[in-house]
Amino acid sequence: MTDKNEVAETPKIEAFRTPKGVHDILPDDHEYHTFIKKVIRHRARQAGFRRISTPVFEYTDVFARSIGASSDIVSKEMYTFEDKKGRSLTLKPEGTAGVVRSFIQHGMNQLPQPMMLFYFEPFFRYDRPQKGRYRQFWQFGFEVLGESDPALDAQLIQLANKIHKDLGIADLFELQLNTIGTIEARKKYMQILEDYYTGKERSLCEDCRNRLSKNPLRLLDCKEEDCQILAELAPIMIDHLDKESIDYHDELKEYLDETGIKYTENPKLVRGLDYYSKTVFEFWDKNEGAQNAIGGGGRYDGLVEQMGGQDTPAVGYAAGVERIIANMKKAKIKAPSKDELHVFVAQLGREAKKKCLPLINDLHDAGIKTMGALGKGSINVQLRMANKFKVRYTVLIGLTEVREETAIIRDMERGSQITVDMDEVVERLVKLIGKENLDLYTPGELLYS
Ligand code: HAM
Repeated sequence: MTDKNEVAETPKIEAFRTPKGVHDILPDDHEYHTFIKKVIRHRARQAGFRRISTPVFEYTDVFARSIGASSDIVSKEMYTFEDKKGRSLTLKPEGTAGVVRSFIQHGMNQLPQPMMLFYFEPFFRYDRPQKGRYRQFWQFGFEVLGESDPALDAQLIQLANKIHKDLGIADLFELQLNTIGTIEARKKYMQILEDYYTGKERSLCEDCRNRLSKNPLRLLDCKEEDCQILAELAPIMIDHLDKESIDYHDELKEYLDETGIKYTENPKLVRGLDYYSKTVFEFWDKNEGAQNAIGGGGRYDGLVEQMGGQDTPAVGYAAGVERIIANMKKAKIKAPSKDELHVFVAQLGREAKKKCLPLINDLHDAGIKTMGALGKGSINVQLRMANKFKVRYTVLIGLTEVREETAIIRDMERGSQITVDMDEVVERLVKLIGKENLDLYTPGELLYS
């Protein structure tokens, strides 16, 4: 029992913070998000892609069976949990597996092919957080299912390139290109690779020793120095691929040359996900290389069948939004924003406030971006607020103005002001701001037009 005279000790509450590796998207970064999303939507619409969203979590097998048990994602990085009935579920670490699951589940192979889908979503990987590597991150991605042709791969790469250009960062990245061949040809090469590494295990890092029997391809793109030395001397994939894979790759390169897209051939590029066949590509930072690739993709012809659907060729690409934003900032690119306010409405007293509410509403309807100080601050406090929000015009309504049914329009830049009749305020401001600068976009109106 506490002594009545004793002051109960207040437990110290630590301020909450986001878990390690995840972050809020604050309004300044949302300007980038919104801009990137607009670019993606525009380019997607132009090329005939339609948007898809798959659930944030799926049955674990959806990822385990597609991305591959030996991949870093499945073996180390998945957020897997059990639901109350003991079913194993996983937060999606990437987009392709879910899209393929959905394609099969909804019989999309019955729709006109190719099925062209895009997404813009958060993903989750339990990776060691560092620059450009987070536990929750956003990707946009494109998937083309139902047709196989090197021209489609080229078109997708061209689309990615165009988007990077729209975002102002294309020059910071170079396209790395490789083919990992058909599944059958790759199996033979993997055996050759395993033979090459057998007996050299002691020079390999622990990860590579583990990967050797499961997926020796991954040893080629290990970042450890000793592993890289061995990879340099390893048999080269393209020398062991079948004619079909090589012809396909040559044709793709012809298309890329035709469209003027530069690429670096990289025989060691294998990608960290097991579902690829033939084309693989990544966009690498020109200075940092593979470390902070902005995006990657490739062909995955066997995946739909492997996940229980009909034999359906496919190709896709996804890029990381956080890395894009970081690069836009590095290149000093500001996302065009429509968030700046035009007008601030300040008032003095309750009667004035009553006049403000309908006025603010009318200003909004006229496309004037307006914020009102509807709190209890003095007129000076409100004017300081108007300055902070960097508005060009402030409308002031005090007791006199209420009585005379007028309002003061103050030009904050010039420091001048005029008094106008209340029912002329909107018209005057439209003239001052300019019709071309109004924000008249009202999607809801589409329903009634
Ligand atoms: P991925 O290479 O694993 O490919 O990821 C694509 C991009 O997502 C990366 O290049 C990177 O920009 C970003 N990213 C990946 N992990 C993180 C992370 N932990 N933090 C921040 N950004 C990250 C895929 O996910 C495939 N599904 C791409 C694809 C689509 N292939 C065919 N279709």
